[in-house]
Parts: sequence; structure tokens; C-alpha cells
Amino acid sequence: MKKGLFITFEGADGSGKTTQLNKIKTFLDEKGYETVVTREPGALDFGKKIREILLHYDKNLSDKAEMFLFLADRAQHIEGLIKPSLEQGKIVLCDRHTDSTIAYQGYGRGQDINLLTLLNDIAVNNLKPDLTLLYDVSVETAQKRVGDEKDRMEASGIEFHKKVRNGYIQLQKDNSERIKLIDANNDIETVYENTKNIIMDLINKRLGV
Ligand SMILES: Nc1ncnc2c1ncn2[C@@H]1O[C@H](COP(=O)(O)OP(=O)(O)OP(=O)(O)O)[C@@H](O)[C@H]1O
Ligand SMILES: [Mg+2]
Repeated sequence: MKKGLFITFEGADGSGKTTQLNKIKTFLDEKGYETVVTREPGALDFGKKIREILLHYDKNLSDKAEMFLFLADRAQHIEGLIKPSLEQGKIVLCDRHTDSTIAYQGYGRGQDINLLTLLNDIAVNNLKPDLTLLYDVSVETAQKRVGDEKDRMEASGIEFHKKVRNGYIQLQKDNSERIKLIDANNDIETVYENTKNIIMDLINKRLGV
């Protein structure tokens, strides 16, 4: 049975997910909570091989193949790490998860969103995040933060990234209970204060102080 908390970090490349996740991990550890930091794709051994293909494969990868690779990684990740950690009462902080698939493969690449939602459900076996933080940032700012060394996904072009951003915003509107929008155009400390407040609200409600 699930006892911990499952928190996912979503948003564009360069929106500041990893920066915030690391800061929150330090904060929660200091408060005495047991945390697990993980990411998609590629948290487990099996997934590292998938991540290598997804981010660095230099030949043509079909949109469907890309979609199934992300989902295969997720299915393994849920069973192999997320579910057992939650059963042990830990707070799982996961860098990208199901919403990335809808935003990137759905809104970005144009794959069927209903189908992706169904495939996501199958991959996670009904284990949904308790909270998702969506770091929203302008495409221009995100691109500047990423810099010139782009991986295969990051190099997909400005139009693609605009569709992904709008997709994320739509997802937030459709799931406003779970997904909290954070303005990630702000400086790191302001974004961190917002992140911390939202997470502590949830912890106080669900786990007690
Ligand atoms: N609020 C911010 N203001 C200015 N710079 C930031 C902010 N947040 C993060 N950065 C910087 O932008 C860069 C990208 O941040 P980070 O790696 O956290 O983004 P990310 O969302 O994890 O990206 P990716 O999806 O590519 O992993 C880093 O150099 C980081 O220091
Ligand atoms: Mg990151």
C-alpha cells in the first residue's frame, strides 16, 4: 500500500526543474524526510540504455518508436523504483513523468492525446503523482538557459517547443487539482520559495509536520 508522496517536476528544457528538485531535496532531507530523487527517462539500468537512444540517437527515430521507448522506460521505473519507494513511505521527487509524454509526444509531435493518456495509464498501473509542479517559462528564456549544447529533444526547433509549452498549460487547466503552475521566468530563489510553499502545504496535509 502507498504511504509516501509522489511529486513530479515538469516543464520545458531549461525551465529549472532539476535546479529546483535538488534544492527541495536538500531542504526536505534537512527536515528529516526520506527522499528519493529520480528522473525519466533513464533512472534504472535498463532505462539508461533507452535514455541514450532518446537523447543521442543520430539516425531517424520514428515518432511512434520514440513514444514507446519513453513508455517502456516509465513502466520499468514505476515497478522497479517509484512504487517500492512509496510503499516504504518515502517522498519521491521525479524529474519528468507522464505529463512530459502528453506535452512532447502529444502536443509537440502530434501523437493522439487520448491514446497517449491510455498508454500512460497502462505504464503506471494507476499510480498517479500526488502533486505535479509545472515550471512555465517563455520559450526564448528556456532556450537561452539550455545554451548551445542541445540534445536530440532540445534540438527540435522553436515551433515544437512553443507547442510543448502550450500543451503543458492546457494540461494544467485540465488537471488543476494535481498540477500547480509556477512562473519559472522569475529568479531561482523566488521560484524556490513558491516550490517550497506548495510542497510543504501538501506535506502538512498528508504526512503531518
Ligand atoms: N529561475 C532561473 N533563473 C535563471 N537561471 C535559471 C533558473 N532556473 C534554472 N536556471 C539555470 O538554467 C539552466 C537550466 O536549468 P535546469 O537544468 O534546472 O533546467 P531543467 O528544467 O532541468 O532542464 P532540462 O529539461 O534540460 O534538464 C541551469 O544553468 C540553471 O542554473
Ligand atoms: Mg533537468
